[in-house]
Amino acid sequence: FTRPKIALIGGGQIGGVLAQLSALKELGDVVLFDIVEDMPQGKTLDIAEASRVDGFDACLRGTNDYKDIAGANIVIVTAGLPRKPGMSRDDLLTTNANIIKSVAENIKKYAPDSYVIVISNPLDAMVTLMQKITGFPAERVIGQAGVLDSSRFASFIAWELGVSVKDVNAMVLGGHGDTMVPLVRYANVNGCPVMELLEKKYNDKAKAKEVMVAMVERTKQAGGEVVKLLKTGSAFYSPASSAIQMAEAILKDEKRVLPVCALLKGEYSIDNLYVGVPVVLGKNGVEKIIELDLDAEEQALMDNSVNAVKDLVEAMTRLGFL
Ligand code: APR
Repeated sequence: FTRPKIALIGGGQIGGVLAQLSALKELGDVVLFDIVEDMPQGKTLDIAEASRVDGFDACLRGTNDYKDIAGANIVIVTAGLPRKPGMSRDDLLTTNANIIKSVAENIKKYAPDSYVIVISNPLDAMVTLMQKITGFPAERVIGQAGVLDSSRFASFIAWELGVSVKDVNAMVLGGHGDTMVPLVRYANVNGCPVMELLEKKYNDKAKAKEVMVAMVERTKQAGGEVVKLLKTGSAFYSPASSAIQMAEAILKDEKRVLPVCALLKGEYSIDNLYVGVPVVLGKNGVEKIIELDLDAEEQALMDNSVNAVKDLVEAMTRLGFL
């Protein structure tokens, strides 16, 4: 038996946490790639030297040579610049598209059978580019956004209601930008509708709605809230945890139902566009896309988000990337 091989492209803030979580969860052996000399070697050595204390069996290796990702089962990509305060994810488009282009060419060359999870922003555009350049089947190329956006939404709901976040189910669809769509109607606490619980808490429908609107808005701006506080970069613990949940679902064939950025081919009446939707994630990557019946208001929000993603894709076409 051989352990799964996990290649992490980008050894920055998120890449480092991805390496540590992969080791702690014993998901497989890890190769951490970065263009910065010695840095990924230093990070992996540091993590590996805690293996006795943390009690994990995993080989960790840092590299500046793409050859070392050969045979990877899963590749998680964080190469690219993060946001600075005042920047939107879309402001990163040209810089990160150039980086993703070179990363994709190397994944195609050295890990042609891998499953690819993209985290680099602007997410929907970078996943589109990754799939186009690798030419991998769309089921094997996905983006991490919805798991984190949903986790943020669930956290806010748990904090507001004073309940365990483990009991909160909340999902965010659409693009990974300001137009994302937190699904209020489906949000529940172990089956109890969140709106009903809010109405009971405040004994006032208007107030309950106001509180929910504020949580929805905070969810949409949650990445920016962290950027503003950090000042020198963007969120990195939570994006890493979210991508690891997706990698684990694939490596362990868990059939998890998670919102991921996946290529739609007619689902939700959207053709040939990467957008965040719930999918079944297992050993074949995206094994099924789950189509929810959206009401008119939700559909309008989804359409708005889809249009924002289309604008990004068009911008990449104009710039000659697609
Ligand atoms: N190939 C590989 N790695 C690269 C390349 C490249 N061509 N160009 C830059 N990198 C590396 C950088 O050297 C850096 O170590 O990508 C890493 C990015 O790490 P950070 O700057 O710390 O950014 P991080 O917070 O990890 O976010 C990475 O994910 O969430 C998104 O918006 C975020 O696009 C950003 C990405």
